[in-house]
Amino acid sequence: MAKQLLVIHGPNLNLLGQRETSIYGSKTLDDINHNISAKADSLAVSVDFFQSNNESDLVDKIQEAAQHCDGIIINAAAYTHTSVAIRDAIAAINTPVIEVHLSNVHQREEFRHHSYIAPVCIGQITGFGEDSYLLAVEAFASKLNS
Ligand code: DQA
Repeated sequence: MAKQLLVIHGPNLNLLGQRETSIYGSKTLDDINHNISAKADSLAVSVDFFQSNNESDLVDKIQEAAQHCDGIIINAAAYTHTSVAIRDAIAAINTPVIEVHLSNVHQREEFRHHSYIAPVCIGQITGFGEDSYLLAVEAFASKLNS
């Protein structure tokens, strides 16, 4: 059976395409999800999507996904830099998680340099726009199918 991935998008990523386009680009979240699906199809993995602006919904989704997913790709957006709860949820599950960001958080304001979740993820991909997600799908396909 095909390996199952879940892509989790955090707060304000529902506004992609209109939000700070000089940083995040002009593609909408639907555009990006569409391209992630195409990449997943090409690598014979299945993918689902979830977006929320609420920290507790993100924690619930991580816990729930751990029951049936083989890998989670998360852009926790601003919660990356603030949320012990999301870090603890990732630490609590056995499912591997890859952290992604559209922008290069290390080139930006100092408060974006620290990630609470990086130490509990298997890797971090930051700064490649939507390709950050596509690279994460490739990394999982290689890891899970090997
Ligand atoms: C982001 C970077 C975060 O610092 C920011 O709060 C976001 C988006 C990114 O994808 O570049 O909302 O995660």
